[in-house]
Amino acid sequence: MSTGDNTLTVTDNRTGRSYLIPIEDGAIRASALRQIRTGAGDPGLLSLDPAFTATASCHSAITYIDGDAGILRYRGYPIEELAEHSSFLEVAYLLMNGELPSPEQLTELTDTVTHHTFVHENVKEFVGGFHHDAHPMGILVGTVGALSTFYPEAGNFTDPVNRRLQMARLIAKMPTLAAYAFRHSRGLPYVYPDNDLSYAGNFLSMMWKMSGRYQPDPVLEHALDVLFILHADHEQNCSTNAMRAVGSSRVDPYSAAAAAVAALYGPLHGGANEQVLRMLREIGDVQHIPDYIERVKKGEFRLMGFGHRVYKNYDPRAKVVRRLAENVFRVTGLNPHLEVAMELERIALADDYFIGKKLYPNVDFYTGIIYEAMGFPVEMFTGLFAIGRMPGWLAQWEEGLLDPEQKIARPRQIYTGPDERHYVDISARHHTEHDLVEPPPKPIGGD
Ligand code: ACO
Repeated sequence: MSTGDNTLTVTDNRTGRSYLIPIEDGAIRASALRQIRTGAGDPGLLSLDPAFTATASCHSAITYIDGDAGILRYRGYPIEELAEHSSFLEVAYLLMNGELPSPEQLTELTDTVTHHTFVHENVKEFVGGFHHDAHPMGILVGTVGALSTFYPEAGNFTDPVNRRLQMARLIAKMPTLAAYAFRHSRGLPYVYPDNDLSYAGNFLSMMWKMSGRYQPDPVLEHALDVLFILHADHEQNCSTNAMRAVGSSRVDPYSAAAAAVAALYGPLHGGANEQVLRMLREIGDVQHIPDYIERVKKGEFRLMGFGHRVYKNYDPRAKVVRRLAENVFRVTGLNPHLEVAMELERIALADDYFIGKKLYPNVDFYTGIIYEAMGFPVEMFTGLFAIGRMPGWLAQWEEGLLDPEQKIARPRQIYTGPDERHYVDISARHHTEHDLVEPPPKPIGGD
C-alpha cells in the first residue's frame, strides 16, 4: 500500500522488526542499514556492491548521464553542443568552475595553462631511464606522480590559489609528458612546448616536429580538440573513482592523478581504445567478422569498444566521433580499418546476443581509427584519452575535497577467511599441497 512519502520500509525477517528509511534523490543512505541488527553483538547490516553497480559514492554537480536515453551533459550542457561550438580549455573551465567562461576568464585560463606547459629538465632524465619499449601509459603513471616531487607545496591544497595553480599545471603538462613518452620510445629528441600554438596544436607539435617550425593541420588540430572535449569527464567512472578515492586520503593532486592514469590504462577502461585497434587488425578483413563474432558469443573474448556500465542505448560520444572521422579522413585518407569497424558494428547491432545484453559501440570504438589515421601509434591512444580526462579528474577531485560529506574512502568487506586459529611452529607443520584454486580468468580482448 502506497503512503506517498519518500521512505522505504524494511522488515527484517530474522527479528520481525521494521525500519523506516528515508529516500533522498532516489537513494537511501547505506549507513541507514547499520541500525538493522539481530542483537547486541551484531554490528548491523552492510550492503554488498563489489563494483558499485547500485551504489552512488558521492553527490556531484559536474556531469549528468542518462544511460538509457544516451544523454551526456557537462554542467548541464549537452556534449553534442560542446563538441560543436566549444574548445577544450573552455570545457576545462566549465568543468572546474561550473559555468562557461567570459572572454577574459578564458584568456586567463589559456594564458595560465600555456605558461605551465614546460616541465622541469630533470623529467627528461628520468623519462630517459625507461626501457625503449616502455608503454607510454606506464611512463605517464610514473611521470605524473613524480611531478609531486617538484611541487612539494601541492599538498597544501586547502589554499584555493595554490590548489588552482596545481590544477592548471596538471592540465598544462599532460601533453608534454605524453609527447615525451612517445619521443622516448622512438629515440627522438624531446620537443619543447610551442606556446604560440593552441593546446591541441602544441601537443601535435611536440609529437611530430623534427626541424623548423611545426604548423598543425587545422582540421586535425580541431579534431583532436573535439576528442579531448569528448573525453573530458564521465562522472564516476573507474579512473575518476580512483582519483576521488586516492584524493580522499588528502594526498597531493599529482599522486592522486597518477592513480587515475593507472586506472585508465586498464583494457576495460581507457585502454580499450588500444585494444579495439588491435582487434580490428586481428580481424583484418570483413569476411572474418562472422567467425570473430561467434567466438565473442562463445565467451572466448569480448568485443572491444562495445558495452558500457551506464549506456544501455548508445554512447552519444561515439556518434560525435563517427561524424568527426569523416572530416579527419578527408585530410588523412580513409583508414582501411574503417570498413571492418563499420561492418562489425552493423553485424553486432543486428545480433540477438548484443541486442539482448544492450551492447552498443562506446566512445573507444571509433577513436582508435581516427588516432591511427592521424599517425598516432596504438600505444599512444590511451595517453590521448588521459590528456582529455585531466580536467574532469581535477574537477571531481576538487568537488570531493570541498564536499563536507567527504571522508577517507574506505569500503567495508564481508570476511570469508578462517576463524581464529593458533600459530604452529614451522618444525611442527606437515607439508601440505595447497591447491591453488583460482576461478577461470574472465575474457578480455581478442589477442
Ligand atoms: N563483448 C561481449 N560481451 C560483453 C561485452 C563485450 N564487449 N561487454 C559486456 N558483455 C557481456 C558480459 O559477458 C555479460 O554477459 P553475462 O550477463 O552473460 O555474464 C554482460 O554483457 C554484462 O557485462 P558486464 O561485464 O557485467 O558489464 P559491466 O557493466 O560490468 O562492464 C564494460 C562494462 C567493462 C565496459 C564491458 O562492457 C566491457 O568489457 N566492454 C569491452 C571493453 C570496453 O570497450 N571498455 C571501454 C568502456 S568505455 C570507457 O571506459 C571509456
